[in-house]
Amino acid sequence: MINKIKTLRETIEGIIITDQPALEAFHQQFLGKKGIIAALFNTFKGLSIAEKKVVGIALNDLKTIAENKAKQSKKELNLEVLPTVAHQTDVTLPSFGPEIGSLHPLRIVQNKIIASFRKIGFNLIEGPEIVEDWYNFGALNFPENHPAREMQDTFFVQRNPDRLLRSHTTTVQISTCESTPPPIRSIAVGRVFRNESISARSHCFFHQVDGMYINQDVSFRDLKQVLYYFLQDLFGSTTAIRFRASYFPFTEPSAEVDVTCQLCAGKGCTICKQSGWVEVLGAGMIHPNVLTNCHIDPELYSGFAFGLGIERIAMLLYQINDIRLFSENHMIFLSQFAAEG
Ligand code: DAH
Repeated sequence: MINKIKTLRETIEGIIITDQPALEAFHQQFLGKKGIIAALFNTFKGLSIAEKKVVGIALNDLKTIAENKAKQSKKELNLEVLPTVAHQTDVTLPSFGPEIGSLHPLRIVQNKIIASFRKIGFNLIEGPEIVEDWYNFGALNFPENHPAREMQDTFFVQRNPDRLLRSHTTTVQISTCESTPPPIRSIAVGRVFRNESISARSHCFFHQVDGMYINQDVSFRDLKQVLYYFLQDLFGSTTAIRFRASYFPFTEPSAEVDVTCQLCAGKGCTICKQSGWVEVLGAGMIHPNVLTNCHIDPELYSGFAFGLGIERIAMLLYQINDIRLFSENHMIFLSQFAAEG
């Protein structure tokens, strides 16, 4: 047996494996379960202890030599680094990028508005969404019997008729003026709530921006100039702007401001009801009673204020025809703004 092993060893050492089929054949012939070496191990079991001592070492050596040969050839043939096709991974392929979110269209418009007012020195201020009647109505010079105080417009906090969900961000004017001496140049941004039925045109919550400037000798001229600047910054320099006399309890005189319809460029369409104009904001000179309510002397100071709805602006800028889309979280709708944010 020892001679047989010797011959086999020489044979194995002399074999040159040139390709994968040859390697597989080698494996099968010498190292497989039914291969020559396995057969020798079977014979080995029947030997005497004295014979086993001699043959065992040679047989193990033979097995090691055959195994090394197979390993070495595999390496030389580059087979080791090539796993089977099923597990093959092409590490050079580009990976799937992470899914990156995008800003909500309302946030994009809000950021544009804030950036526009920041450029001319307005601070961003905040106020709470639940306020006392005084901040939403009383201090803003709403007469006791004003219809906007009625239950159909305002959400009151249950069991406390003095607390309500603010129906406009003009509330923040009061809290700011109470705590800050003039000059004040600020904008407040946030969500407001109204007890209105939900449709394509109206919602029970939406977002507003409210701004004010209070100083000595502030006039309607300053208001017009700031709004001309702002609206052309937002809608483009060719946008025309017009002021119409209006009424708000907290401003005197008051105005509503229209811009050229963004959808038909002023030619007339269904959105602007063929007028070529769309209303975008309310504004006016802060009523002396409002200043007095905030402990600011109206003999010394005057101010202007304005307010606008962010949804309305976004609908005009992006030609969105249903206000409900802003709060329904449709990915198809939202993903259209990915490039904007
Ligand atoms: N608060 C008004 C509204 O919700 C908008 C508004 C009008 C705000 C005139 C103002 C203003 O600050 O001066 O309809």
